Amino acid sequence: MFFNFFVSNFDFEILTVMILKKTVLTLCAIAGLCYSANAQDLRFDADNFTQKQLTMPDGYEVKFRAYENIFYVANVEDSVYQTLNIYVPDNLRNDSPIFLRTYIGGYLAAKAKQPSANDASGRALEEGYVVCIPGSRGSNSFVHKEIYAAKKGKKKKKQVLTDEFNTVYTGKFPAGLLDLKAAVRYLKANDEVIPGNSDKIITDGTSAGGAMSALLGVTGNHPDYEELLDKMGAAKTSDNIWASICFCPITDLEHADMAYEWLYCFVNKNIRQLDSCQMQLSEKLSASYPEYLKSLNLKNPETGEKLTAENYLNYLREWLLKSVNKAFDSGREISDTIGVAFYDESKESRCIVDFNLEKYLAYVAKNQPLKPTPAFDSQNFCSNAPSAENKAFGLFDGTTLNFTEFAIGHILPDELLKRVKMMNPMNYIADNQAVKAKNWYIRHGAKDRDTGFQISLNLALRLQNEGFNVNYFIPWDIPHTGDYNLNELFDWLETLE
Ligand code: DHB
Repeated sequence: MFFNFFVSNFDFEILTVMILKKTVLTLCAIAGLCYSANAQDLRFDADNFTQKQLTMPDGYEVKFRAYENIFYVANVEDSVYQTLNIYVPDNLRNDSPIFLRTYIGGYLAAKAKQPSANDASGRALEEGYVVCIPGSRGSNSFVHKEIYAAKKGKKKKKQVLTDEFNTVYTGKFPAGLLDLKAAVRYLKANDEVIPGNSDKIITDGTSAGGAMSALLGVTGNHPDYEELLDKMGAAKTSDNIWASICFCPITDLEHADMAYEWLYCFVNKNIRQLDSCQMQLSEKLSASYPEYLKSLNLKNPETGEKLTAENYLNYLREWLLKSVNKAFDSGREISDTIGVAFYDESKESRCIVDFNLEKYLAYVAKNQPLKPTPAFDSQNFCSNAPSAENKAFGLFDGTTLNFTEFAIGHILPDELLKRVKMMNPMNYIADNQAVKAKNWYIRHGAKDRDTGFQISLNLALRLQNEGFNVNYFIPWDIPHTGDYNLNELFDWLETLE
């Protein structure tokens, strides 16, 4: 009796509070008082769409609602790039994941685009996924800032300086990553109104975009980014994702130079024809890789054996052997001109039983000239031009920067050190403060020489060693590119839980 009375009284109280709250909120909303600028700017308008369609290569017409040019941060710094587009297919699947495709390449700024029939964005729509294509700032994006300066004895007056002085590059590292994180937050903050399930965000990118996808996958909700996201007016919510698709990710930039020289050092003379300046650097860089490799503590997931400089190349050779055999099994002609494949004629079904890694790497280097030495942190060495990475790590005024201890000659200044850390997914895989994607699809084409094979392989191994669901492969005959074998990719997505 007492219990009953208590419950009904309690229910009544809750009800009264709820009604009061709702009334107050409605009144405030009408008066435009209660919502912060943040919440107001970042609300998704479900009625503001246009109906569009896309013709797929097989002639199929995908019809969808297009929500475009939506700002995803409250404090927009660059109105050209800090927007996103959302596409909702008419054949929306149940509990649809959200497929977020970034078009970042070369760490450059990327606009929020429309989905394309020729890549994973169109295919995702065809498969009934919600698609989000965010724009993001990059190493080449800038804004013109009007500078207000106080003139002596006068009131504050607007003083617009010349271009040279008021051009501010706002997209240097980690700006592009922050933008993508803010876009993820926008999707999560509006989960109730945007179709699809924002607990199931899948990111996809190629090259520099692949690196961004990897970073989104391992840095979810990490405090390193919090203050910066807050300043941008990103939605105050989480930014962890569910699955990360990384095509040829150009990452682990601090160690990419040594990895590259260690892998390709034997072609330096004949194929690469390095001059004596580059030759010296190559030897130094290459010599420092084994120690780094050891520090990663990688294990062969099948045998549990530790991977070190002694057995690593053989492990890579096994991957390439799997790759060439897969291509061979699917009917591909494997040319002997590469000089890598040996058939065992004694067996009933011909298969490729051995693979000469050195000859193969020489073939890769002949197919497309290797990068100069150093390949990534290149500027100020042997008259090399600044690399895409030197530009991306540069400053607001456009100055390009070195970013490795090797180049700078001493420990990096604090600010730069923080930025370098924030841009390397390897730093976060074992960090418990980061919420990581459970599912990983990582590809590095067998003919891709833009970075050493170790970069994607180490990322995959580290994730796999930590217990994540990783699908890694080095597909045969594929250069530096992404969004290929979409049947395979979308079949894999169907297996995810
Ligand atoms: C990309 C390619 C590179 O070789 C590189 O160093 C950085 C970025 C790219 O295609 O995005």
